[in-house]
Order: sequence, then C-alpha cells, then structure tokens
Amino acid sequence: MTVSPLSGKRILLLIGGGIAAYKCLDLIRRLRERGAAVRAVLTRAGSEFVTPLSVSALTEDKVYSDLFDLTDEAEMGHIQLSRDADLLVLAPATADLIAKMATGRADDLASTVLLATDTPVLAAPAMNVRMWQHPATQRNVNQIERDGVTLVGPNEGSMACNEYGMGRMAEPMEIVAAIETAFSVPHRPLAGRRIVVTSGPTHEPIDPVRYIANRSSGKQGHAVARAAQMAGADVTLISGPVSIEDPPDVTMVRVETAQDMLAAVETALPADALVMAAAVADWRVVERQEDKIKKADGGVPHSIALTENPDILATVGHAGARRPRLVIGFAAETQNLLENAGAKLRSKGADWIVANDVSPEGGVFGGDRNTVRILHANRVDSLPTQSKDAVAAHLVERIDAFFNGIDTAASLESDPK
Ligand code: PMT
Repeated sequence: MTVSPLSGKRILLLIGGGIAAYKCLDLIRRLRERGAAVRAVLTRAGSEFVTPLSVSALTEDKVYSDLFDLTDEAEMGHIQLSRDADLLVLAPATADLIAKMATGRADDLASTVLLATDTPVLAAPAMNVRMWQHPATQRNVNQIERDGVTLVGPNEGSMACNEYGMGRMAEPMEIVAAIETAFSVPHRPLAGRRIVVTSGPTHEPIDPVRYIANRSSGKQGHAVARAAQMAGADVTLISGPVSIEDPPDVTMVRVETAQDMLAAVETALPADALVMAAAVADWRVVERQEDKIKKADGGVPHSIALTENPDILATVGHAGARRPRLVIGFAAETQNLLENAGAKLRSKGADWIVANDVSPEGGVFGGDRNTVRILHANRVDSLPTQSKDAVAAHLVERIDAFFNGIDTAASLESDPK
C-alpha cells in the first residue's frame, strides 16, 4: 500500500465566501482520507455558504472564524494557527481575498492569518469570469504568485451566475493533487547544471549625467533566473540597471554597459547554458564626455557619434570550445517577428531564439505578461499569452528536456518552418 504524501500533514483550510465553498466539504473529506489533519478558518462570507457545524463535523475540530474571539486568542492566536500548519489552503480564493493578500490587508481572521504566516500558501481562485479577467484581479494574482503563493485553477466552465468562462474553482481532487505536489520532494532536474542568464537593459553613458537606455525592466530575465534556480541549477544572473528585486539564491553580477556585460558573461563561462534575455544596447557613444555637455551656442544640438557595441550573443554563440551546449537568445521585434528572429537565430549562432513582439500596445517591455514563440533551426513553437513567470517556467522545462534528450514539440502548437 502506498502512503499518501499527505499522511500526517497539518492543513489549515481558509474557506472564503463563494458558492464554490460547498466543494470544501468534499475537499476536507478527501484530505482526511489521505491521513491529513484539517483545521478550518471560515470567513463570515464563507459561513453564508457552508455552516460551521458541517465544517466542524468533517474536520472533527473547532472551526475558527472570529479574529477577536478572546478565548481563541488566549488558547490559539492567529499566529499559532498558521504555525501549527504545514500548508495553508485558501479555497475558494475570492477576488476580495486575493486583493487583500496582494496588498497586505488584514481585517478578519483569514486575511490576518495569511499576512502573519511564513507557511506555504496554496490558493484555489473562484469568481465570476469578468471579475477574474479584470486587470485589477490579474494584477493581484500576479502579485501573490510573485510573493510565492501557488495557484490551482481556476478552470473554465459554466458558472453559478449563468455565465461561461474562466473562474470555476478547481475540483476537490485537483486541489488534493496540487497539495500532494506541494508536499512532494522538490523536483530539481537542473541540479548540477550551470546556467548564465542576462537581464535588464544596458546603460551607455553620454556624459556623467546622461545615457542611452531602453525600457527593459528585467522582469523576464529575472523570472528565467528564478525558474532555473528553482529547478536546481547553479545560476549566475548578470543584470543591467533595474529596480526589481534580485531572485533568491542566485549569484548576482550587476553591470552597466554592454561592454561590462560581455566581460561578465565571459567571466561566468564555462556554463551548460546561456540565456540572453537582456536588452543590450546596440550602440554606445564613441567618446564619453568627462563633464556634462553644455548647450551649444545658437541652439543647435550637439550631435553624438555612435559606434556599434559588441554582440554578446553572437560572441558566445560562435565561441568554439567555450560555447555552452545550449545558447538561447531573445529577439525583441516590432515587425516581421519570425523573419527577423529567424535571421538572428542564424547570424548569432544561437540554438533557440525566444521571439517577442515589443510593439508598445502589447506592453511587453516592463509588463508582467508575454507572448513568445520559440524558434529552433527547423520549427517554431507558439506559446499562449501568459505571465513572464510562466514563460520562464516553460523555458526552463525545455532546457531540462534538452539536457535529457526529450523533444518537447509534441505538446505545443508547432509551425514547421
Ligand atoms: O525586461 P522586460 O521588461 O521584462 O522585457 C523583456 C524583454 C522584452 C527585454 C525580453 O523579453 C527580450 O526580448 N530581450 C531581448 C531584447 C533584445 O535586445 O533583443 P534584440 O532583438 O535586440 O537582440 C537579440 C539578442 O541578441 C538578444 O538575446 C540580446 O540579448 C542579444 N544582444 C543584442 C545586442 C548586443 N549588442 N548583444 C547581444 O547579445
């Protein structure tokens, strides 16, 4: 008989106020069948959909609901509630609870427990399709994912409000599977691999106060570094100037110019893979001025002579013995995406090019989502629009498959070239 990874685990289930709350009764039963102990916090809105009595009967424990219940504060404070759990499961995760988590609001027991915890959190969103699609909800969802919350669902389907779309809470068995995954030994398929990732823009100084730059925020490159680290790789992240946080447990190298970035990449080699997500400036000024350039007499602006920067990707792509086994470039295009990205694949000696359309209306530069196509020598794989974290996770899965000799094309929409 196989022992469930849930056996002996303590789960704190936070039940939000939505019609899907009724599924939590089945969820409790399934978790307990697998040997988990379940304690529940029922929000006030949640108790409109399921009664404390039924939750208590299934958990065989007291149901917690009031932040200001003094007896509980004496016997079981909100901090203790979360400390006594191995995992917090929020289901249904309503738009309101997700917004509270994203902004750190704590005005009832459930949101206070969520803010006070350092225990992993799994959330099963459930809401009307329009609420799910609303930019505010999407912003909040991206934020809580960045804060480390794992999501299961929502699913597409018909809803209690007679609409159809994304927003149905995951079924109890899907939530159980996600909880089992959360308790499984971390999958670290890239353990032992060295991966160098570049990210962000480069700044090319004109004088002490001015520089040439671009709109890269570093979100995509940092997400790749984070995903590779989570997959067990030894990651060096070489970043141009950005204002986002460093991913945990990577070796950070901060650079300013394209020339600095080239030197840092060369120092970081040898590596198994290089991922060039940085938006490297193509040009730098020929002569950087030591003093601030003054306005010219007569209002005629100074002209600035530019020269081409070294192409880091092409340098490493053609580096012979020092070339990593896998060299991945990105291509930022505003027109003829596949044609231009294909030309970069060939000329820069890359194995794959991740092509994204960076036309301003798409909001890829600086935004949280991306739509990419991955070009190989003989095919193009199209990925759906998704968060930059999801693009990164997908790319890392493919890097893992590459090193394990698996062809990932079968599961994707592949356009033969
Ligand atoms: O940082 P974000 O706001 O999250 O935005 C993400 C992104 C749009 C910057 C990212 O997804 C992306 O497309 N990065 C590559 C940007 C770019 O410089 O593209 P390119 O088409 O100009 O260059 C092609 C490839 O050559 C890139 O891998 C680039 O890193 C590399 N290159 C370019 C010039 C140069 N001198 N040296 C290089 O190595």
